[in-house]
Amino acid sequence: MARPGDLDRALIERDITAFLERQRTKQLLRFITCGSVDDGKSTLIGRLLHDSRQIFEDQLASLAADSRSVGTQGDRIDFALLVDGLAAEREQGITIDVAYRFFATDRRKFIIADTPGHEQYTRNMVTGASTADLAVLLVDARKGVLQQTRRHSYLAHLVGIRHLVLAVNKMDLVTYDKAVFDKIVDDYARFADTLGIEGVVAIPVSGLEGANITAHDRTNMPWYEGPTLHEYLERVPVASAVYQDKPFRMPVQWVNRPDQHFRGFAGQVAAGRIAPGERVRLLPSGRTSRVERIVTMDGDLEAAVAGQSVTLTLADEVDCARGDVIAAADDPPASADQFEATIVWMDEEPLLPGRAYWLKLASQTVSATIQPPKHRVDVNTLAQLAAKTLDLNDIGVAQLTTDRDITFEPYADPDGASANRTLGGFILIDKLTNATVGAGMLHFALRRAQNIHPQALDISPGTRARALGQRPAILWFTGLSGAGKSTIANLVEKKLVARGRHTFLLDGDNIRHGLNKDLGFTDADRIENIRRIGEVAKLMTEAGLIVLTAFISPFRAERQMVRDMCAEGDFIEIFVDTPLRIAEERDEKGLYAKARAGKIKNFTGIDSPYEAPLKPDLRIDTTKLDAEAAAEAVVAALLERLEG
Ligand code: ADX
Repeated sequence: MARPGDLDRALIERDITAFLERQRTKQLLRFITCGSVDDGKSTLIGRLLHDSRQIFEDQLASLAADSRSVGTQGDRIDFALLVDGLAAEREQGITIDVAYRFFATDRRKFIIADTPGHEQYTRNMVTGASTADLAVLLVDARKGVLQQTRRHSYLAHLVGIRHLVLAVNKMDLVTYDKAVFDKIVDDYARFADTLGIEGVVAIPVSGLEGANITAHDRTNMPWYEGPTLHEYLERVPVASAVYQDKPFRMPVQWVNRPDQHFRGFAGQVAAGRIAPGERVRLLPSGRTSRVERIVTMDGDLEAAVAGQSVTLTLADEVDCARGDVIAAADDPPASADQFEATIVWMDEEPLLPGRAYWLKLASQTVSATIQPPKHRVDVNTLAQLAAKTLDLNDIGVAQLTTDRDITFEPYADPDGASANRTLGGFILIDKLTNATVGAGMLHFALRRAQNIHPQALDISPGTRARALGQRPAILWFTGLSGAGKSTIANLVEKKLVARGRHTFLLDGDNIRHGLNKDLGFTDADRIENIRRIGEVAKLMTEAGLIVLTAFISPFRAERQMVRDMCAEGDFIEIFVDTPLRIAEERDEKGLYAKARAGKIKNFTGIDSPYEAPLKPDLRIDTTKLDAEAAAEAVVAALLERLEG
């Protein structure tokens, strides 16, 4: 589904590529700017761009004209106009999306991600910051360190930014007073200590006057001996340089196989360096081989380092596919399927613990479910609060489980030895809408995942099915309360048993008295209800049975999850289609009347949704078929599938 932002993003990507191409030989520094319009952020960025001569002359002329007509900065050029004018999306004077700008100096090229400062744009900031090497935190010299400064610092630190510039702006408005600057630096240092933030460089600047931006202002601030902002940006080590000293890792983006004679594995080196002849290990298979060639558009390389995009060929014919990771043979990353992670929620719909989302990490895509959060973080006070879910812009810590092992490294570990943003950062995607709903950072694998190994059994599901002389299947009945699921399922089971089949019927109202008596009717509880039933039904098919389930199972995502657990054709979704009006008219248990009277909350069809199957294997229209005829239809469909 195309969303409004998609086109813009494609354009941004194209612009970035074109820019990088022009400045190919220079080292790239990505940074973000944090602060609000009031802190003078736009003026500062405009100044930086201007002084690096990235503005065309005609644009400057029109700016000068604009400034005069707007009159905010007298006769001088208003640099804020430049930046704000460039921002595509604006609302009430606030830039809402992430705006990217490019400029280059003699020594480096730069990409600035300019993100809005307000709390409701946390997700934008996280998006912009996740690829940045450095953050410029803007502070108004008159106001000092504010809650917003702390929030931005926390977020920048969270996404792994290890260099922070505290730009104390508007020094001209505090008469360039050293004491004011020192006090702000002290305040900030105390706060940074509590979070373990290191690598902060404080620079007193005036965006308006251009002081200490590209040139030192020796007249007004002779007391400042550190670098200008520009100098610092040119010499701070970029992350990819730091990553070069780590063990080699490259997630395989795609396999390049133009003909019989060439098979290369393309990707971006995430960490370390590699040269032809060196031994590598392929994950998850664990097979080893040697690198034969490092191929690029400009010919073969003698070596490749973190940040470079290359194609590797290997000495052996080993299996390797998109999603695999090629790593140093003697120091490979770990793999696991259960983790603790920090998650930033980015969707209007809250996180549903227990629901299966796609999790994308490097080039790996797996299905993942998230446990209820251990806590969420109040981004303003940094307090840890109890939470059952995560709402838009919430940040929390939770455990998650993936349906198969992924190759990973911690996003950021304390000593930084094996930390890796590429193999530790992930996004979460809604399986039905394909929207990105969250982003996260892996902390570590849970030990229980590492100590449990599947046990090989001698009696297989196939053996058990043969012993019973039948092919197992799940007949999954779904529909509103009172639709007739239990009645029809009950008749179907009788008919199957009469034909000598071995069956078991799992019925919502019964199971909720036993196995699932701890569950209610919130979305999260219904998801857990269906997850357990799916697991139990699957076990029963492994025991050789034909399993019938009668649960409302209102969500498409969870029905799909159970389908995905089964072999193709073994899951048969039967939609017992009774319109709400009719189910409510019958109201055999009197529950609809209670729900309408407000005595039952979250009642399906009344104040809790039912997502009808879009493509059920069988649809039963109960307004046309009675229970007996419906059961016949189900049995016929099943037998055709199993025997036909
Ligand atoms: S499900 O949504 O989690 O699949 P399930 O099928 O187990 O529901 O249970 C539904 C049965 O519980 C209904 O047939 C009804 O008898 C009873 N029930 C009690 N409260 C509710 C409610 N709020 N919504 C739906 N059904 C309810």
